[in-house]
Amino acid sequence: MPTAPAKSRCSTDSLNLTAIFLLKHARLYNISVKDQHTVPGKTAISVEEKIGEIFPYEGDIPEGFRLKEPVEQDEYLIDGRLRIWRGAMQEVLSPIFVRGPGGISQKAIGRYPLLTEREALEALDSAVAAYNNGRGIWPMMPVVDRIRHIEEFAARVRDKKREMVHLIMWEIGKSYQESEKEFDRAISYVGNTVNELKNLDLVSSRLMAEQGIIGQMRRSPLGVVLCMGPFNYPLNETFSTLIPALLMGNTVIFKPPKLGVLLHYPLLDIFRKSFPPGVINTVYGDGMRIITPLITSGKIDVLAFIGSSKVADMLKNQHPKRHRLRSVLGLEAKNSGIVLADADIESAVDECVTGSLLFNGQRCTALKILFVHTRVINRFLEKFVDAVDRLKVGMPWERDVTITPLPEPGKTEYLTELLEDARRHGAGIINREGGTVNRTFFYPAVVCPVNSEMRLYREEQFGPVVPVVPYDDIETPINYVIESSYGQQVSVFGNDAGTIAHLADVLVNQVCRVNINTLCQRGPDVFPFAGRKDSGEGTLSVSDALRVFSIRTIVATKDVEGNREMLRRIIEERKSNFSSADLVL
Ligand code: G3H
Repeated sequence: MPTAPAKSRCSTDSLNLTAIFLLKHARLYNISVKDQHTVPGKTAISVEEKIGEIFPYEGDIPEGFRLKEPVEQDEYLIDGRLRIWRGAMQEVLSPIFVRGPGGISQKAIGRYPLLTEREALEALDSAVAAYNNGRGIWPMMPVVDRIRHIEEFAARVRDKKREMVHLIMWEIGKSYQESEKEFDRAISYVGNTVNELKNLDLVSSRLMAEQGIIGQMRRSPLGVVLCMGPFNYPLNETFSTLIPALLMGNTVIFKPPKLGVLLHYPLLDIFRKSFPPGVINTVYGDGMRIITPLITSGKIDVLAFIGSSKVADMLKNQHPKRHRLRSVLGLEAKNSGIVLADADIESAVDECVTGSLLFNGQRCTALKILFVHTRVINRFLEKFVDAVDRLKVGMPWERDVTITPLPEPGKTEYLTELLEDARRHGAGIINREGGTVNRTFFYPAVVCPVNSEMRLYREEQFGPVVPVVPYDDIETPINYVIESSYGQQVSVFGNDAGTIAHLADVLVNQVCRVNINTLCQRGPDVFPFAGRKDSGEGTLSVSDALRVFSIRTIVATKDVEGNREMLRRIIEERKSNFSSADLVL
């Protein structure tokens, strides 16, 4: 039997505004039936009951979504060989609990190798050897051939869709629909990146003659890339650095995120078949144990990392010659949604609900704090709470489900602490079941009025908690964005062109994307994705990423007859991969 869910209660001793709001809603709740979920074949049950019974019996899991048996990954890839690991293994627990005759338990879904410093350094040696100071098969290979390898890779990955989507769902609790979208987006990213490389190559194959010098510019690889993606978009965000790094001729060491490892297992043999030995190597295990020796070796040329700024700083500081290490980093964010007094409330609510709660708010681009003008806050909150309570909660295989169990250990406790802290400082949880916990499941909490004394004001909650700050003066949200440690994106909701234009002009110098009447998001992937301050380093998009993992290099000579003749022969007789006029179409 599930234990009784921990219940959070609203505070009525906060600001008048909230007190009025809460009272109003308390009345609404007494008469409302909107918060009842209907399960086919059963009579309507309350949200509280639904949360209490959120986890299924094994037999309730639809056949097509069951995990037949745990995934035992005892292999890792080094130097083009799948090696068998006989050492310590890490057990992987799904965020999903399953009920059975013996009680309820967290579903064990498999194990993966916990490699040591020794294997990490072997992976490094393999990547260094395959790069061979830029003289390896891969960095010397003509672009057209590298593209062929990547396209073969993508075709093989496509065949693994079902298996990988299934594992994304079980491993991180992402809804099956969202997991499928992530898979499709990752595959499109490959195709789009290849197209972009063809464009880049067309531009690069020109000769330039200037001030008596003639030359040809192309982009060359940088060396060995350490690629580490995040748990929330383990496949797509990994591909967004892995694919351009490979395409540009670098060799790679790939460490999957701590949560979201097994889903990459089907890729291992595909990597092996698709690339020359050593071009891609995989490592697994404790970061301190296996990543520290890689960085301190000084042999990593590029760090592609999506995670926390604390870890990014620690890694960068471990490099013996920091200036040599290129970094492309996607870090924390606390994107604000600013709802102006003249906003279209219906549409602002729709965007803010999706923006803050899609995949339980576990997107780096999620709206993590809302500033709402006091003239519209009651209307906004009423509709917002109503929309939140209509979100489907449940298991990730349920169609159209939004709120699912959270994969990070200790997450529900952390979110509960944030709520308690907010309550202590005068805020209330204004949706009735907000903050109700059942093991890894956390019912979304809308918290108001949030102020600067609360942890929720600054900490990136990365979960289903929506802090709302009422404001009268537009300088309040502007100053918040200015003073924030983060600078990724912001959303502004309003209807007056002059006000919006002025706000956008101010905000574009604080963040890297200002969204008007639209939630914050990374996509479409051709758009540049970057962050200021503690939110990132470098820019990713299908075109920018190719630049991040390469450097402009020129072969040049004095523009005199003898040199011109030699260049002509090199190009016409196709003697060089670099100085060539071959078009990649
Ligand atoms: O966690 C960050 C993801 O890249 C989110 O992507 O904002 O396009 O949904 P998105």
